[in-house]
Amino acid sequence: MKAWRGPAAATAALVLAAGCAAPDSGLAAARRHLAGRGPITFVQASDEAGVATRQVIEAWNRLHPDQRVTLRQFGDVDELHDNLVHHFKAEDADYDVLGADVVTIAEYAAHRWLQPFKGGYSLDTSPLLEQTVATARYQGTLYAAPFMTDAGLLYYRKDLVPRPPRTWRELRGYCEIARKRRMGCYAGQFAKYEGLTVNVTEAVAAAGGSFVKSDGTTPSADTPAAREGLSLLVDAYRSGDIPAEAITYQEEEGRHAFEAGKLLFLRNWSYVYPLANSDGASVVKGRFGVTTLPGVDGPGRTALGGQDNAVNVYSKHKATARDFVIYLQSPDVQRKLLVEQGQPPVVKSLYHDRSLLDDPALGYLGALERSIATATERPVTPFYPAVTQAISDNAYAAIKGGKPAGEALDDIQAAIRAATSEQ
Ligand code: GLC
Repeated sequence: MKAWRGPAAATAALVLAAGCAAPDSGLAAARRHLAGRGPITFVQASDEAGVATRQVIEAWNRLHPDQRVTLRQFGDVDELHDNLVHHFKAEDADYDVLGADVVTIAEYAAHRWLQPFKGGYSLDTSPLLEQTVATARYQGTLYAAPFMTDAGLLYYRKDLVPRPPRTWRELRGYCEIARKRRMGCYAGQFAKYEGLTVNVTEAVAAAGGSFVKSDGTTPSADTPAAREGLSLLVDAYRSGDIPAEAITYQEEEGRHAFEAGKLLFLRNWSYVYPLANSDGASVVKGRFGVTTLPGVDGPGRTALGGQDNAVNVYSKHKATARDFVIYLQSPDVQRKLLVEQGQPPVVKSLYHDRSLLDDPALGYLGALERSIATATERPVTPFYPAVTQAISDNAYAAIKGGKPAGEALDDIQAAIRAATSEQ
């Protein structure tokens, strides 16, 4: 579902480019209902919440019968964004806590749709990973409570490859093993949606490039490094090392193919690890390992993912909402979500907890921490919908062979320049 991206971006442009940073209604709403308590609604993308999340909510509800939480879920992260924007525009109080993809915070905050965590309504972020706190800030103010982080990992069949590959060259060198066995060699997320922006950002980072410079706004998509990075995917797809069907894959399709033994390598998030070792349908239980993403000259870099919990500025029960997001960040909740659904914690200490590091079921924790430490970001801009659409549309055309990589990158460069120059 991509239809929202045009209209949402156009609205952002109207609101922000006209010189008024955001509607006054958001400013006024931010002063209301700070002490409000009562039942609240927590919304998330459907693929984010597993059984453990529901149990955590049930535990809260048992302790807070007058401030019960109802969980609502909407499709993938793109569909959730679409839904939230409609509700914000209607100044709707129906949703209280929003499980927002990290890339959406700048846009929501710029419109003043989120309750800032400051003054008497603040949060203690000191136990949290700094990278995750950075995703929740916009122009120096904290607008959300980090809840889960996410790092792309390389899953590999340890029963079939002698050593985990560190570079794309090593990975491609192993594809002969896949060909002999009539398996696909490598897949990630290549359907035309947010996941493709993630994968292309990582390919560009593998070659030492980025889509924006470290100032966060100057586009750098027209560089030799970006071209080399995008070409990694274009060449692998053209040669068949990325199987043709992978052009339709989101996270779940890739996971199912890997679990069915159809792939030698898979780029995916850590939630796959416990599932591929436990799913009834998985034929790869105990037969795969996990490492950091490949680069060109050494290990690559992930594009940091994750979810921050924000409070809707129009919520009437903001005191309850704040208590609930603090509860979701507590070490006990974070530990349970890590152990039971492979959800990467935002609490620093859990990455150094001996009992977790020694748990074979959490064999990915070390690779996860290394990946987070070297992660790159997707562009941070209130015009992110237009930027990500330019990246995913153009990269998709290039990977499929319909557009030369250089031309695709020039078009991405122009789109990022247009979006960021409006800020
Ligand atoms: C995961 C990540 C999120 C990313 C999405 C792409 O949900 O946490 O940041 O945008 O995947 O599909």
